[in-house]
Amino acid sequence: MNDHDKSRLTFFRDDILRMRGYQAGEQPQGDKIIKLNTNENPYPCSPSVVQAIRSVEAGGLQKYPDASATAFCTAAAPILGVDPNWILCGNGSDEILSIVTRAMVGPGQKVRWPFPSYVLYSVLTDIQGGLSDPVSFAPDWNLTDEFYSDQDQLGLVFLANPNSPSGTLLDPEKVLELVNAVRCPVLIDEAYADFAGVSCVDLVAQNERILVSRTLSKSHGLAGLRFGYLVAQPQIIEQLVKIKDSYNCDALSIAGATAAITDQVWLRQNVEKVRSTRQELSEQLESMGFEVTPSSANFVWCKHCDRSSLEIYEYLKSNQLLVRYMEFGSWGDGIRITVGTDDQVDALVTILSSILKKP
Ligand SMILES: Cc1ncc(COP(=O)(O)O)c(C=O)c1O
Repeated sequence: MNDHDKSRLTFFRDDILRMRGYQAGEQPQGDKIIKLNTNENPYPCSPSVVQAIRSVEAGGLQKYPDASATAFCTAAAPILGVDPNWILCGNGSDEILSIVTRAMVGPGQKVRWPFPSYVLYSVLTDIQGGLSDPVSFAPDWNLTDEFYSDQDQLGLVFLANPNSPSGTLLDPEKVLELVNAVRCPVLIDEAYADFAGVSCVDLVAQNERILVSRTLSKSHGLAGLRFGYLVAQPQIIEQLVKIKDSYNCDALSIAGATAAITDQVWLRQNVEKVRSTRQELSEQLESMGFEVTPSSANFVWCKHCDRSSLEIYEYLKSNQLLVRYMEFGSWGDGIRITVGTDDQVDALVTILSSILKKP
């Protein structure tokens, strides 16, 4: 929309008109395209999820769902080692991030995250009239000293762990050092933590400023279901509940998510498969001249030594294979490739070899 059109929309806040909004990854529908661009799981979810959803549907949907998603909290609590009232459920972990930002960040407050990371953090900050404070990662994807600096206006820190797009992981001791260095809450976004086998959930009991968000979209193969949750101390959850929509999770998603979290055997087997394909994918890419960042997630971040990332992305797309091209201004660009099935990875390697042979 051009400036002339925007000038008509005076009923919007200026900052909303100025903001860019989150650009979600492309979501082409249908089976023709191999989709390795938004870190979905390539395998169908646990069969118990489908069964649970069917039985809720058969009972009818005329009543409102349980506003607290009690069944999920009760099933997840022993797995996470917390009480059910330490869990807040949401419509995907994006909603959890939004609830926390709305509850904690006011106009003029700073929100920090390491850069580059999940692009939604800056959008959520903008919506609140907050000030973005992205601090560049060190070249080895560790946090720099600047990241630990405390400031009066600092209202919230986001830390995706593993990080996206790099797939890199910080160990919980480092996270604890960060929490001790600042006075504001630190939200550890563990969307990909199952693939790393490392979590900061155990730290939550140590400090009420530690909040951990998780999702069923990735390791449980349920991106289409929209279910995520937060683990935090009960006095924190009690305040956040005031912000959420009453019925933010529907009856089908609560039933499906409860079945999914209960089926830990499916989860473990799935994570094993994805990790083994991740290893294979990384080795194949390296053998073709890519520089691959060691990943603890279900995707890899890479760049080719002498071909442009944009050119590779476009060539793959023209061959019906979608990966995520990401560009971060002066920081540079690269390609993020979701770990697919072994067959999808084979198809990727075949197409890549054909472009790399071209002069
Ligand atoms: C780092 C990170 N956090 C959170 C999410 C949101 O996941 P969802 O809203 O599907 O739970 C994503 C999705 O790609 C992500 O990459």
